[in-house]
Amino acid sequence: NSEEEKKEDYLFKIVLIGDSAVGKSNLLARFARDEFYPNSKSTIGVEFQTQKININGKEVKAQIWDTAGQERFRAVTSAYYRGAVGALLVYDISRRLTFDNIDRWLNELQTHSDMNVVIILVGNKSDLKDAREVTTAEGKALAEAKGLFFIETSALDSSNVTSAFQTVVREIY
Ligand code: GTP
Ligand code: MG
Repeated sequence: NSEEEKKEDYLFKIVLIGDSAVGKSNLLARFARDEFYPNSKSTIGVEFQTQKININGKEVKAQIWDTAGQERFRAVTSAYYRGAVGALLVYDISRRLTFDNIDRWLNELQTHSDMNVVIILVGNKSDLKDAREVTTAEGKALAEAKGLFFIETSALDSSNVTSAFQTVVREIY
C-alpha cells in the first residue's frame, strides 16, 4: 500500500567512525553481505553500501558510509558527515588506545554533524576474550556518561552486528 511505499522511501545516512583497524569495514561487510576478511586492508577514501533494515516489520533503507580511521587516507571530513542521522563509533576491545580516542571521534562527529545524530558506541572484537583491554563495564560507563547507546560486537563471529545497526536505525526512525 501507499503508506508502506512511503516508509521505504526513507534513506538514513549512517556513518562508521573510529580508529584504524577497529573493524569498521568488517562490521559493514558482515552486516551487508555476511562476509568477513581476516586480512583486510585499510580503507582508502569513502565507500558506502545501502542496506534494507527491518524495523518492527517495516523496511527502511540505511546508507552506511565507511572511511579510513587514518587521517591520511580520509576524504573530506565535512562531506563524510553531511546529512548523517546515525553513527557507529567503533573501538577495539583488545586495544585500549582505540577506546581512549573515543572522545576525539565524538568531538569530530559533533563538530561536523547535526545535534540530533543517533550515536552507538561499539566495542568490536568481543571474540578476542583473552586479549581484552577494555571491560564491558568501562564501555557501558563511557556510553552512559556521553549519552550514547552501547553494544559489544564481533564481526568475526557475527555477534550483535545486526543489532548494532538496527539499534541506530530504530532510534532514528
Ligand atoms: P581502517 O579502514 O584502516 O579504518 O580499518 P577498519 O576499522 O575498517 O578495520 P578492518 O575492518 O579493516 O579490520 C581490521 C582488522 O581487524 C582486519 O584484520 C580484520 O580481519 C580484523 N577484525 C575486524 N573485526 C574483527 C572482529 O570482530 N574480531 C577479530 N578477531 N578481528 C576483527
Ligand atoms: Mg576500513
